[in-house]
Amino acid sequence: MVKKAIIPAAGLGTRFLPATKAQPKEMLPIIDTPTIQYVVQEAIDSGIEDILIISGKGKRAIEDHFDRNFELELALENDDNKNLYNEIRRISEMANIHFIRQKQLRGLGDAIYYAKQHVGNEPFAVLLGDTVVRSVIPVTRQLIDIYEQYHSSVVAVETVPANKVDRYGIIDGKIISESLWQLSRLIEKPDINNSPTNLAVAGRYILTPEIFKIIEQTAPGKNNEIQLTDAMHTLLKRENIYAHVIEGKRYDIGNKLDYLKTFIEFGLSRQEFSNDLYDYLREVIAAKDEK
Ligand code: UTP
Repeated sequence: MVKKAIIPAAGLGTRFLPATKAQPKEMLPIIDTPTIQYVVQEAIDSGIEDILIISGKGKRAIEDHFDRNFELELALENDDNKNLYNEIRRISEMANIHFIRQKQLRGLGDAIYYAKQHVGNEPFAVLLGDTVVRSVIPVTRQLIDIYEQYHSSVVAVETVPANKVDRYGIIDGKIISESLWQLSRLIEKPDINNSPTNLAVAGRYILTPEIFKIIEQTAPGKNNEIQLTDAMHTLLKRENIYAHVIEGKRYDIGNKLDYLKTFIEFGLSRQEFSNDLYDYLREVIAAKDEK
C-alpha cells in the first residue's frame, strides 16, 4: 500500500525570477489557489495519508499556507464569508503534512533522500511541487494502481511533440499495453533525431525504498546535482521500472510560458468567468490579427 508522498519544493525557481526571489515558485497561484495546494489535493485524492514537503530557504510561505491562521479565521467568521472561512479551515486540515528543509540545493535526488527516515521501508509517491496534472482519476492514483499490480517503481510519462523531445527526460523500453511501458533506460534531453520515444517524464513517481540506498551512492551529475534520473538508472539494474502514459494533462508552472497557458486554461474552465474570459481572449486575438 502506498500511503506516503514526498513533495519536493526546495528549488530556487531561477527560471521564474524575479517573481521567485522572495516567494516560493510552488506558491505561485493558478487563479486563486497556490500550485502546491493542487498537488497536495491530488495526493489526498489518490489515497495518500501522509505528506512530507521538502522545503528550504525562503519557503516559509508554504508552511504558513497549510497552517492555521487564527486572525484570518476570526475576520472571516461571519455569515458573509462563510465559504471563504470554510475553505481557509479546510486547507489547514487537508492532510497530515510534515516539512523538512533541504539544507543545500543539491538536486532532486538529494531532495528525495531527505525523506529516508520519514518513509522507512515502504514504497512512496513523489509529486513535483511545481507541476499540476488535471485528470479524471488523479494521476498519482493511476500510478498507485499500477504499483499494486506489479510491485515495482512506476514513473508517469506524457506524449510530447517529437520536435520538443530535447527539452525533457525521455524513456526507452518495451510496450506492455497501450499506456504501459517497461523501462530499459531514461535519456535526459535527447537529440531530436535520435530519441527512442516521445514519452516524457511527467513529474510523478512511485518509488521503492531501494532508491535511498542508491541515492547514497550516486555521485553528483549534471549541474553538479544529485540527479534522480541517474539514481533511477541504477535502480533499473536491480529492479523493474514501469512507465505509465498518463490519462490527463500536465501543467508545469516552473517556466513562464507554460504558467501563462495554465492560467488561461484554468480560467476558461472556471464557470464564474469562463464566458467573459473567452470573449476577452477573442477580442485581444482579433485586435492582434488586425495589426
Ligand atoms: P526544478 O528543477 O524544476 O526546480 O525541480 P528548480 O530547481 O527550482 O527550477 P529552476 O531551474 O531553478 O527554475 C522540480 C521540483 O523539485 C524541487 C523544486 O522545488 C521543484 O518543485 N527541487 C529541485 C528540490 O526540492 N530540491 C532541489 O535541489 C531541486
